[in-house]
Amino acid sequence: MAPPCAALLLPALAALLAVPAAARAPPRSIAVVGAGLGGSAVSYFLQQHFGPQVQLDVYEQGGVGGRLATVTVNKQQYESRAASIHALSLHMQDFVKTLGLRQRREVLGKSAVFSGEHFVLEETDWYLLNLFRLWWHYGISFLRLQMWVEEVMEKFMRIYKYQAHGYAFSSLEELLHSLGGEAFVNMTRRSVAEALLEVGVTQRFVDDVIAAVLRSSYGQSVLVPAFAGAMSLAGAQGSTWAVEGGNKLVCSGLLKLTKANVIHGRVTGVSLHSSEGRALYQVHYTSSEGQGSAFYDMVVVTTALHPSRSNFSFQNFEPPIDNFPGTFQPSVTSVVHGYLNSSYFGFPDPKLFPFASILTTDTPALFFNAMDNICPVNVSAAFRRKQPQEAAVWRVLSQQPLDRQQLKTLFRSYYSVQVTEWQSHPHYDSAKSLPPIVLHENLFYLSGVEWLASSMEMIAVAAKNVALLAYNRWHQDLEKIDQKDLMHKVKTEL
Ligand SMILES: Cc1cc2nc3c(=O)[nH]c(=O)nc-3n(C[C@H](O)[C@H](O)[C@H](O)COP(=O)(O)OP(=O)(O)OC[C@H]3O[C@@H](n4cnc5c(N)ncnc54)[C@H](O)[C@@H]3O)c2cc1C
Ligand SMILES: *[C@@H]1O[C@H](CO)[C@@H](O)[C@H](O)[C@H]1NC(C)=O
Ligand SMILES: *[C@@H]1O[C@H](CO)[C@@H](O)[C@H](O)[C@H]1NC(C)=O
Ligand SMILES: *[C@@H]1O[C@H](CO)[C@@H](O)[C@H](O)[C@H]1NC(C)=O
Ligand SMILES: *[C@@H]1O[C@H](CO)[C@@H](O)[C@H](O)[C@H]1NC(C)=O
Repeated sequence: MAPPCAALLLPALAALLAVPAAARAPPRSIAVVGAGLGGSAVSYFLQQHFGPQVQLDVYEQGGVGGRLATVTVNKQQYESRAASIHALSLHMQDFVKTLGLRQRREVLGKSAVFSGEHFVLEETDWYLLNLFRLWWHYGISFLRLQMWVEEVMEKFMRIYKYQAHGYAFSSLEELLHSLGGEAFVNMTRRSVAEALLEVGVTQRFVDDVIAAVLRSSYGQSVLVPAFAGAMSLAGAQGSTWAVEGGNKLVCSGLLKLTKANVIHGRVTGVSLHSSEGRALYQVHYTSSEGQGSAFYDMVVVTTALHPSRSNFSFQNFEPPIDNFPGTFQPSVTSVVHGYLNSSYFGFPDPKLFPFASILTTDTPALFFNAMDNICPVNVSAAFRRKQPQEAAVWRVLSQQPLDRQQLKTLFRSYYSVQVTEWQSHPHYDSAKSLPPIVLHENLFYLSGVEWLASSMEMIAVAAKNVALLAYNRWHQDLEKIDQKDLMHKVKTEL
């Protein structure tokens, strides 16, 4: 057959095969609550699966991008937090490529771990865990850590294959189980410290190195669950990148690409109705024009639901949807433009201060978790990092806002300080159960994945899963949901 003809026929044929016999019209309208990465990515994936005719309304109470945001210092923009993306983040890579954006290179700099009195560990290059020096200090612990993280990552990467074949999971437990069996599910129930000690990593290595990495990524201790810990350690181990121009460009770009209708308002709740025997969801919101509501066939919630969010309610659902456990960890980022007080770190001569990134040990007297000499979101080839004796832009992470005295301790003097307070990450507690993904027939909850690990790529993976799950459920393609033995299935399918 002539190639042009085959090219025309094949997509149609594929569509026929993909949709089960009782093919159903797509949903008329879908509401997405939140326009952070989760909301933007799920809109994009939902449109890929259901097609462009579906009306997509995305509700956002603040700025598009959510926790991906920048601050401006001296006419240049800097990531105010979610900064670095692991090299193996395949969905994030795809987004950047699809949107015609570019990856921004990491400007090399040295890092070290500070105890409040001195540096317990000094690095010779940026990647905290990749060093000969670590090997020298901690010997076999370092190797064991690497092997442990690599094994977890290798299993985690299976998700891309499953998703490429259209498989979805209706719960986080099912997802984990298919990636790494019961051992993976167990990794959400025990601490990273326990898991590492068990594979033979020493207590000293846990205290000096693992603690520092977790303080800088989650602002928490080595008691975070092993799975979240592994993801954060993977980030510290490999090379990382960011989006040229700012990570938030991915969100605005995806929403623009899908031509989603962004509604600036705060969603106050979702109530259940039915029409012709089908569930219909009414989304209630308040905006500058007052209160409003609209009806949808499907809703995806991409903002964290927890008890302190009592003003977001679900009505008419039986059984009721409430009771989301857990609390969130407050975290503060201060972007400071000023001169580092290198004396505080034991370097009276600022010219000799060698570090661009300072991590900390779990020391009660320390008032900050980590600080970095950061680069703008646009860096030219000629860019060089500011020298320690020059005024530079530092991002300081802490649990509490820094007071004047604390700022005066870290900086000899400064021009400006911009503070953002976040309810940033779940307060990880190994004993909690994981939140659900399916809240009702066509009502989904994306943000629960942060209880596994909190990162841009995890959110993107969850967005793809929710879109596939919504699609497979809509078409009652149950063979593509919660399938067992997927490793075997995807091998034989190709
Ligand atoms: C301090 C910090 C550092 C981080 N560092 C990294 C990092 O280096 N690398 C990495 O990969 N990840 C990092 N992360 C994690 C990453 O930022 C998040 O996982 C990701 O941005 C979450 O995206 P999201 O869309 O799920 O949530 P959000 O970005 O929080 O988006 C939710 C959106 O919903 C909106 N919203 C909430 N309630 C309502 C409502 N009722 N009605 C309408 N809209 C509503 C919010 O305004 C927000 O825009 C970091 C996070 C923080 C806070
Ligand atoms: C998972 O945890 C349970 C309960 O603690 C335990 O019985 C089981 O052996 C563990 N499984 C694996 C594979 O680690
Ligand atoms: C920064 O990068 C983005 C994305 O490549 C680009 O759109 C923007 O114009 C750049 N800004 C500057 C000031 O170079
Ligand atoms: C509702 O909850 C959000 C998030 O916690 C909060 O910012 C907002 O002020 C609350 N609004 C009301 C009216 O209580
Ligand atoms: C800098 O650090 C030194 C040593 O801790 C401290 O004595 C001093 O007060 C700090 N602040 C300034 C502005 O020098």
